[in-house]
Amino acid sequence: MKEPDIKYNPRPQSFNGIEEMVEFLPATDTKKMEKMTIKRKLVIVGIVCAAAVISVAVGLLVWHFAYRSAPVYKVYTGSLTVTNVPFVEAFEDPTSPQFADLSVKVTEVLLSAYRSDPAIGPHVVSCNVTAFSEGSVISYYLSEFRVPAYKEVALDNAMNELKVKTAKVRQFSLAVDTFVAYPTDPQMARTFQDNKCSYFLHSSPGVETQFTTPGFPNFPYRPNSRCQWALRADAGHMILLHFKTFKMEACKPNKGDVVTVYDSLTAMEPRVLVKLCGSYPPSYNLTFVSSQNVMLVTLVTDNVGKHPGFLAEFTQIPRETLCGAQLKDASGVFSTPFYPAHYPPNRECIWDIQVPGNQHVKVRFLMFYLLEASALVTSCPKDYVEINNQRYCGERTPFVVSSNSSRMIIRFRSDQSYTDTGFMAEYLSYEPQNPCPDQFTCKSGRCIDLVRKCDGWNDCGDSSDESSCTCSTQQFRCKTSQFCKPKFFMCDGVNDCGDGTDEVDCKCPDKYLKCRNGKCFPQEQKCDRTDNCGDGTDESECGDALVTTCTENTFKCDSGECITKLNPQCDGVKDCADMSDEKEAACSCGKRPYSRKTRIVGGVNADIGEWPWQVSLHTPKEGHTCGASLVSSTILVSAAHCFQDASGVRFSDPSIWTAYLGLHDQASRTKSDSVVQRKIKKLLAHRGFNDYTYDNDIAYLELDSPVTYTDFIQPICIPDTSHVFPVSKSIWVTGWGAQTEGGTGAQILQKAEIRIINQTECNVLLEGQLTPRMICAGYVSGGIDACQGDSGGPLSSVESNGKVYLAGIVSWGEGCARRNKPGVYTKVTAMRDWIRQNTGL
Ligand code: ARG
Repeated sequence: MKEPDIKYNPRPQSFNGIEEMVEFLPATDTKKMEKMTIKRKLVIVGIVCAAAVISVAVGLLVWHFAYRSAPVYKVYTGSLTVTNVPFVEAFEDPTSPQFADLSVKVTEVLLSAYRSDPAIGPHVVSCNVTAFSEGSVISYYLSEFRVPAYKEVALDNAMNELKVKTAKVRQFSLAVDTFVAYPTDPQMARTFQDNKCSYFLHSSPGVETQFTTPGFPNFPYRPNSRCQWALRADAGHMILLHFKTFKMEACKPNKGDVVTVYDSLTAMEPRVLVKLCGSYPPSYNLTFVSSQNVMLVTLVTDNVGKHPGFLAEFTQIPRETLCGAQLKDASGVFSTPFYPAHYPPNRECIWDIQVPGNQHVKVRFLMFYLLEASALVTSCPKDYVEINNQRYCGERTPFVVSSNSSRMIIRFRSDQSYTDTGFMAEYLSYEPQNPCPDQFTCKSGRCIDLVRKCDGWNDCGDSSDESSCTCSTQQFRCKTSQFCKPKFFMCDGVNDCGDGTDEVDCKCPDKYLKCRNGKCFPQEQKCDRTDNCGDGTDESECGDALVTTCTENTFKCDSGECITKLNPQCDGVKDCADMSDEKEAACSCGKRPYSRKTRIVGGVNADIGEWPWQVSLHTPKEGHTCGASLVSSTILVSAAHCFQDASGVRFSDPSIWTAYLGLHDQASRTKSDSVVQRKIKKLLAHRGFNDYTYDNDIAYLELDSPVTYTDFIQPICIPDTSHVFPVSKSIWVTGWGAQTEGGTGAQILQKAEIRIINQTECNVLLEGQLTPRMICAGYVSGGIDACQGDSGGPLSSVESNGKVYLAGIVSWGEGCARRNKPGVYTKVTAMRDWIRQNTGL
């Protein structure tokens, strides 16, 4: 560390002073005096004296606390640009004479600026230049201050206002500009400065430079670490940083292990590009771009946990500040710079679209991620896209913007901190008289199928397809939205209108609640520790468990005792007297090693490792034929209909099947290291499977040898018979099945978020084809569903205990994704006993 240029003698801290003055505290003295039997006058004199003592003491206390209290230690970090010195390579080496020479000058500039301000000058302890980078010369520094507490605010304000403009200091003449200073955590600044875990890396042209957390991949990174990597590229370049592996402690709000990437060489908060924690699957594009030729990566860890850490690499690319384009074709695509990597900070891009002839233009944003946690999505003050004076930001589902002319100007702006994935858009020209041939034109310009108009769902996104509709005989009108919804949505226990108008006049009488078995009970009987419903439901959401008579709605402990609590299994509370609801064997399942990042660029492709229980079942002739779920190291659960002999193929013969576990991409099933292949030793379909009704559509398969659990291979939890998956709960279906009705299978594992649909309604839609061993999930409006080839695969439900449960098995449907035809799944809770009897699980 360089010696401070100004020496400061902190005043001796007088903690003794406090004690001395405490002695003066008058209250006890006065009381004693009052008790004395002296003459009245003396008493008065005494009181006067006491009052005087009190005021002196109070004064001293005020003085002490306000003016003499321990000074506050503050560290500021920042940068300033020297514009009249050309950058030379030696500036990168802190031991070079050139570095020493310039840092002396810069320090002088800083100190003279500090001294010129009475709110700053007297408090300076030291001022150190830490690095230089190109541009012309950006100087990074750390300044330390010691300031009495009552002057701290004044110092902060003065530092905020300090602007050095071409300061001439002594004989040195530096033209200085763009001066910034931000307070930083003193503790952190200090440990980063004199720290062995500090690295300086310079990229070489055309080479990827790698760096990792210490010990990676053989050892976990250490607790309580403070590491930093200063990255540099050649002049005229910028840095492309990519985390190839990122496995850190799960994110904790405002604490825990964090990796921070700065668009700077010093840890300035307003230059943070990203803060990362948790684990990212390898397919997630963790790539960041700097605005200049430097970047800083820091690692701060807490005292708990053992995690592998990260492997990162960076390259340099020529600095390209121009972005945007003149687009003159009838249609095309454009995106933010480096999409799907995070866009660079501090950029402005303009796309000027001019479509030919008298056509008009519209832009469809297919992916849109411009999210900055602190920024308001209404005013978009930070990163945004601007079209026709309207700003767009945040994370948005696909949307369309259209213009009433042949021209449209799209402006993208990123500020200095926190970048995101950006957007990908396509533009189209359209006939002004007929923007949506054979379709309905939403107010926004979006085109939707005519059948979606007035169907009770906001397909346009702006509700323009649902306004001024005449409700059909099968529909009713919601009060607030005026939407026409299907009549069978009334009284189904789900607030479909949003204002509850579909759920009035159908509940139990006033002050009564509904049991899951349909009975009504007075609301004061809820949680009165008496099973009034007879199925335990009035006592099931009371926090604790009550022993009751066993019904299908109660959980049965190993002891045979039944408890009322809703979904008590593996919830972290021992509800059964024998603790069998928290048995390790049943609870070590449904875990996803990679915390799920909802951000999947590329549509409905699943992320690698997102569904580690998903299995692909192959036959030699047909290739991928069905899905299955891993429930233990040797057992798979699938659908019985996958194993019915047909057209000369013995699908019931276990030896024809191969199971692929840990699979993501069908094309790489024999190449990927994470994929494990197994033959099937035993196969058993439910004896009650009916190939006409698809009742009891379940089978289990035994692998020829157990698999080892990895980040990509994990078992899913099997729910108890009494487990409730409530109607309208969102749930996931996954598979490599057809992507459209009659279409071909997917190469990459697909996922879709659907909802559980009320059994009675679904049975109406499917004309009475449901049995109690089936559940429906999907959308009545259609569009999202499982399809051929998904059969046997899981319907995965993320439960409140954080584990994922197998709610259903893909079984059948009328076509795929059709309106009013949701998908049908084998109800696993109804099959719980069959699974136990046959597999022992
Ligand atoms: N039976 C189909 C299969 O063998 C699954 C159909 C699921 N269909 C649906 N619309 N959800 O792959």
